[in-house]
Amino acid sequence: MNERKKVTIRTLFSKAAKDEPISWLTCYDYPTAAFQDKAGIDMILVGDSLGMTMLGYDGTLPVTMEDMIRHTQAVRRGAPNAFLVGDMPYMSYQPSNESAIRNAGRFMAEATCDAIKLEGGGMMAERIRAITQAGIPAIGHLGLTPQSVAALGGFRVQGRGAIQAKQIMDDAKALEEAGAFAILLEMVPDRVTKMITENAENCLIMSLGSGQDAHGQLLIYHDMFGLYPNFKPRMAKVFGNAGEVIFNGLKDYVHEVSTKEFPQPENWFTIKDDEFEELQRLLDDEE
Ligand code: KIV
Repeated sequence: MNERKKVTIRTLFSKAAKDEPISWLTCYDYPTAAFQDKAGIDMILVGDSLGMTMLGYDGTLPVTMEDMIRHTQAVRRGAPNAFLVGDMPYMSYQPSNESAIRNAGRFMAEATCDAIKLEGGGMMAERIRAITQAGIPAIGHLGLTPQSVAALGGFRVQGRGAIQAKQIMDDAKALEEAGAFAILLEMVPDRVTKMITENAENCLIMSLGSGQDAHGQLLIYHDMFGLYPNFKPRMAKVFGNAGEVIFNGLKDYVHEVSTKEFPQPENWFTIKDDEFEELQRLLDDEE
């Protein structure tokens, strides 16, 4: 039985008001969601990073709404109480307000999300406004926005120059004014994050590699447990090397099967002697 109370927007704002940082992690599957909910995670993001962590693409662009809905449903089954955020995949909201509302609505209706997240600055304020006016809580995402990585010139810190930093601050205000109840800052310098957090009036500022002075922190689950073999971003802290544990276990399995150390009697099932004798009789009678 899960004793946790459901985390709502009110819970999140009340934590921020008490200066209690909000914990947020990505998640893409049922068993991990169950662990995260049990561990007391406030928020879960089913990120389109699943294109890389789960599906093995090089980036997030090939991820579809169908991929997102399937994984988000599994996460909700495992984590009934965490605040669940569905990440709008590439081209599910960019084309029009209508596409944005429809696809945000799918996350809410088909995967029982609590909110959606979409990437982009002031240009996306109109989409945020349309989605929130449809009654769907929306989170903005500024700084390094992986869906625009080609335009940004690679996975790099955003807002190191004063002009770009000012642009991120203006974008954050525009998204807040459009109705975003939270904004994720990814790879934005810490002092810029601090100013955005101080300027936010009715908006939670979340940090991914953007320093401590935000209302909460997000990490990519696969980075925190060494589960993504291709790279480990600098901003990620490894909280346990599950990837190494799994890899060593796999090598042991291959070895033990080849040497017949596995399986042992405790790993298989037996038939009683009398049933086995009866079976042999049945087979003899057939001959
Ligand atoms: O898809 C995702 O996991 C994200 C994070 C990189 C913030 O959007």
